[in-house]
Amino acid sequence: MQLVKFSSHLTQEIEQIKAYNKTIGFIPTMGALHEGHLSLVKAAKDTCEVVVVSIYVNPTQFNKKEDLDKYPRALEQDMELLKGYADIIFNPKSDVEIYGDEIQLKAYDFGKLDEPLEGAFRPGHFKGMANVVSKFFSLIQPDKAFFGLKDYQQYVLVKEMVKIDGHPVEVIGSPTVRETSGLAMSSRNRRLSPKALDAASVIYYTLTYCKQYAQHIPLNQLKETGLHMLKNIMQTEYLEFRTADTLEEYEHLKDGDNVFLSYAGVIEGVRLIDNIVFEV
Ligand code: PAJ
Repeated sequence: MQLVKFSSHLTQEIEQIKAYNKTIGFIPTMGALHEGHLSLVKAAKDTCEVVVVSIYVNPTQFNKKEDLDKYPRALEQDMELLKGYADIIFNPKSDVEIYGDEIQLKAYDFGKLDEPLEGAFRPGHFKGMANVVSKFFSLIQPDKAFFGLKDYQQYVLVKEMVKIDGHPVEVIGSPTVRETSGLAMSSRNRRLSPKALDAASVIYYTLTYCKQYAQHIPLNQLKETGLHMLKNIMQTEYLEFRTADTLEEYEHLKDGDNVFLSYAGVIEGVRLIDNIVFEV
């Protein structure tokens, strides 16, 4: 396993791998790794000859400086976890390695895909995310790139960015890894007290409840019940039923609908997101 700090060095390594015609699997991360990230790395190892993981807390996708500052950083632990799975870890020495001397972001036209949900609550987030992932794809030229379905809207937008920029990469979505309580694993969970960690399992409980009753209870009533279940534990930002492909909001559900049920809320000042995608 090799730790690479400079883009120029990474480019040399990639050239060598390409010269040997080896397939590259890539997993972009912001570090503070957990089993969710590792599931992506393992999926890459199963299907690609060389596995590249980036660990980079990308400043352009944070809309609050406080959130960027508080983002957990744990490079040594991360390296330990990746041993035996990753071949190259790209941990840029500074933002210059990614953005050059001046940060200039491309404005993508994602239609309506980046407007709701995270797009509405974190202005500019997807612009920064799409820019950094596109830069990684240009540098690393992966055959396959692995993304967690926990960030479902991100996964949809990465696929859209790949179409726009013409990257020859297959984008693979991997299932959400959860604690036994049902809480989706997240680097941000590290900032929660044991009590909040336990209480936040209400998110997944509510999502599965809504899925279970999607056929039987009218949508507005179901949403109200869901919000009520979350009320005393989470400060909910959204709980929304949207189409899994175009992310438009459902007014009613019918048999065969493919639903992206999406959630965001705050507990102990920590913002958590989760979702489930299911067919009615
Ligand atoms: P980060 O939050 O570190 O997540 C890196 C990858 O791990 C993403 O694809 C995310 O969806 C996936 N992931 C996180 N928690 C997961 C879980 N519980 N189960 C399965 N997969 C999970 O997402 C980002 O970083 C950034 O936006 C990034 C793509 C790296 C661009 O900066």
